[in-house]
Amino acid sequence: VARLREVADVREWSSDLPPDRESLTALIGDAEAVLAIGGDALVAAVLAACPNLRIVALASAGYDSVDVDAAHTLGIAVTNTPGVLHETTADLAFGLILAARRRIAEGDRYVRSGSWERVPYRLLFGHDVHGAQLGIIGYGQIGHAVARRAHGFGMRVVHYSRTHQDDELSTWMPLDELLATSDIVSVHVPLSDQTRGLIGERELRLMKPTATLVNTARGPVIDETALVRALREERIGSAGLDVQSVEPNPDASDPLLEAPNCVVLPHIGSATESARAAMVDLAAANIEACLAGRPLLSPIPGS
Ligand code: DGY
Repeated sequence: VARLREVADVREWSSDLPPDRESLTALIGDAEAVLAIGGDALVAAVLAACPNLRIVALASAGYDSVDVDAAHTLGIAVTNTPGVLHETTADLAFGLILAARRRIAEGDRYVRSGSWERVPYRLLFGHDVHGAQLGIIGYGQIGHAVARRAHGFGMRVVHYSRTHQDDELSTWMPLDELLATSDIVSVHVPLSDQTRGLIGERELRLMKPTATLVNTARGPVIDETALVRALREERIGSAGLDVQSVEPNPDASDPLLEAPNCVVLPHIGSATESARAAMVDLAAANIEACLAGRPLLSPIPGS
């Protein structure tokens, strides 16, 4: 913000709660640029009500919070932040893989609750990560970064993506085959009309009963109701979720939280000092470029 104040008048949303539509429209008002994060729903009605808006600079890789078609029709550029958060998010995806398969969060709760009175031989048995098959759905920057880490764990890596291409890290596989043969399935697709509900009842039924499903992408890519059922009925082994279909979600009675062996985090995939600093820096640089009439640094794909 300090950086942007040198080139523009800046108005800030000062709450940790995302603005509702009216507040967002009022805040943007006659501004030429907006720096937004994922919770800011830049729907067509908001964009259309802001006559001077030239750029939506997102401090996120995902751009599902913006009505991109409306923005482009209105001549508003949209930028995101690829290249600065994929390693950080891949670290967290691996954290979730380890936590879910080795029951780390469950073990921590067990010790804290004072339940560790005996030494049962089968205490918190999990499933190995090393030597397992990792299936990556969506093979962009984050998917690649997860694949690189998997090789350090001696895993076999396969992926499903629109481009049917193998590379030195991973072999392409049809989605159903990936789901049926992988021990761990990690989701890295952007949210779009094509990926909403990509993993539903049918797909979960294809997975191994010991399999782990990890999602650091967007909640709505997985049908949460079907996932809760699959976990309860032990049709899959565990899940690690950084994202949910509704965020934030203060509902402590959400069935997802009661599902056995499900680790849930509050969308912190890119939450490190350095990643977040790089994200807002890139967003600010896009705004500076737009206001100065220079080419944008990272327009969203296809724009
Ligand atoms: C992203 O960059 O899209 C992450 O989900 C952080 O919001």
